[in-house]
Amino acid sequence: MSQSSAPPLGPEPGVRPGPGTEADAASGTAHAKAILVGEHSVVYGRPAVALPLGQLTVTARIRRVDGPASLRNDGASLPIDRLPERFASIGVAARAALDFFGLPGEGVEIDVANEIPAGAGLGASAAVAHAVVEALRAHADAELSDTERFELVQTAERTAHGNPSGLDALATRTELPLLFQARRTTPLPPSAPLWFTIADTGVRSSTKQAVAHIAQFVEGRPLRAQTVLDRLGELALRAAGDLRAARTAELGARMDEAQTALDELGAGHPMIDRLTAAARAAGAHGAKLTGAGRGGCVIALAGDAAHARELLAAMRAAGAVSGELVRIGDAAEAGA
Ligand code: PMV
Repeated sequence: MSQSSAPPLGPEPGVRPGPGTEADAASGTAHAKAILVGEHSVVYGRPAVALPLGQLTVTARIRRVDGPASLRNDGASLPIDRLPERFASIGVAARAALDFFGLPGEGVEIDVANEIPAGAGLGASAAVAHAVVEALRAHADAELSDTERFELVQTAERTAHGNPSGLDALATRTELPLLFQARRTTPLPPSAPLWFTIADTGVRSSTKQAVAHIAQFVEGRPLRAQTVLDRLGELALRAAGDLRAARTAELGARMDEAQTALDELGAGHPMIDRLTAAARAAGAHGAKLTGAGRGGCVIALAGDAAHARELLAAMRAAGAVSGELVRIGDAAEAGA
């Protein structure tokens, strides 16, 4: 598994692959996502809005090898049933898919090229699971319904997250923003393009631990928690309408209020405070954490492309380690 966007090296043209290097045409891709409003509350059944981040992708490719099903990592071939903890959910996705397709579990090596940082709140684990499931589906030349695909990815997400809402499993494959409600999705194409800036605090955070942390708040203060979760659900529904109508001022205000609610639940972090403050000082319509929080990324709503670049510069000056500009509203999205 590599963190670069470069495709893994295959056999050179005209060179016959030797044993253990035969490339298979089978591959699968997925992309990152950002949650606009509704992270954490979605775990408790409230609605949420997510955006596709098409410029950050993951691709899994299959090679035919002699030996057990394995994952390629740093030049070594690791059997999928004995993967180190950090790759555990990939192993679960691959094992579930191999069993589902009735493959013997021998003779395939999975190579994953991943541009999505892990632990940054951008849906890396679900995107990788999608890519692996799709590559194995193509390898098996089999059919997969949307529900079957969702369930295979959720199997891996349970290892990565513990109690996944299912939002990441859907948002890392969709091409349009979506409203997720009662496990159903509604596409939300905006009536005019919207520009967002996503900036990485550089602080890595475990979704599983963040979800467990919020669960403590929910158990410890159940009445207050229900009020905050309800409010986040309401904000998500309103944000869905604002996104559709491209109402930036209103949408930004929902994002700011969602951040206040997420802080109360315990999803905040001093670096999130720094980056959201920097974005607001640079004129963002709104800014908040995205994903599990307690580190990870911040999302800010800009007025246009130039303003999105200014927000990125402001958040970099405040300590962001990297960032992306995201245009939502047509097929074009721009990397920073
Ligand atoms: O940080 P990510 O990309 O894993 O997103 C987690 C989103 C949560 O709402 C916190 C959990 C979930 O299952 O929806």
